[in-house]
Amino acid sequence: YITYRAFKPKPVCNPCFKKDDPKVVDIVNIEELGEKTAFCRCWRSAKFPYCDGAHGAHNKGTGDNVGPLVIKKVK
Ligand code: FES
Repeated sequence: YITYRAFKPKPVCNPCFKKDDPKVVDIVNIEELGEKTAFCRCWRSAKFPYCDGAHGAHNKGTGDNVGPLVIKKVK
């Protein structure tokens, strides 16, 4: 017999970005970054790979606690 578990969808990190690609790779020229740049780690940003604050709603709705990777220049 088939259990419920057989129909349970597999969890994914990436909900919608470049789903036809075998993997999502973004290349950023470090020389073009500003003083401080936040990169999305929740995969929910409309500006992916940059953070747009969407992690707040994601965390609130799921109980998760993800946030951006912030790169900043040393002065
Ligand atoms: Fe994804 Fe901020 S929007 S970490």
